[in-house]
Amino acid sequence: MSYNIAIDGPAGAGKSTIAKLLARELGYIYVDTGAMYRAMACYFLQNGIPAEDEAKITDACAGVDVTISYRDGEQQVILNGENVTGKIRTEEVGKMASTVSVYPVVRTKLVELQRALAKTENVIMDGRDIGTVVLPDADVKIYLTASSAVRAKRRYEELTEKGVDCNLEEIEKDIIDRDYRDMHREVSPLKQAEDAVLLDTSELDIDGVVREMKRIIAEVCHA
Ligand code: DC
Repeated sequence: MSYNIAIDGPAGAGKSTIAKLLARELGYIYVDTGAMYRAMACYFLQNGIPAEDEAKITDACAGVDVTISYRDGEQQVILNGENVTGKIRTEEVGKMASTVSVYPVVRTKLVELQRALAKTENVIMDGRDIGTVVLPDADVKIYLTASSAVRAKRRYEELTEKGVDCNLEEIEKDIIDRDYRDMHREVSPLKQAEDAVLLDTSELDIDGVVREMKRIIAEVCHA
């Protein structure tokens, strides 16, 4: 039987950084579900399909195939046979992913893939609806969050380090807009599962978050 850890939370809470580190330590597979939504978004952008046209998005979904594979332990996202892992991290793709993820047709496809992975492998899976919808029976559920100001600052520092010119206020505004969209959509909105443990990382560094996560996992597993 496989063991599943579900991590949900808003954009920029540190989910993927932490989940990756923990997966390596525990020998689990890390599944980044946001990357799957981003790959779908990439397809719609590449093909000029407008996010607000549900009928066109629905038609287009039939022609989209998203799968994942692993290279040196890193998740790769394959879109219709092309590895798009290096293309999906832009703000444009993130925004499009958040916009099109409101459509059930987009979600159904990806949720199926996510459940199939969790069935056969020990996974740490992160996203917005993992503990609530994708893996309601996950062994451990953690809801990771931080204030929008802290999340914006982290993102700003990450981009500045990469030499990208950006504006802190705009980043925080984008984060607040994205939170609103992800939390208020009709299908599978972002929310803390009733049985998830809440961890606010606003005052913690990466080591501190990993330490807390391990404590939570040990506690839940021995309860
Ligand atoms: O985690 P991320 O920033 O890569 O996710 C991009 C968008 O994809 C996010 O704003 C909403 C959507 N998403 C989702 O609806 N459900 C998930 N499980 C993961 C992501």
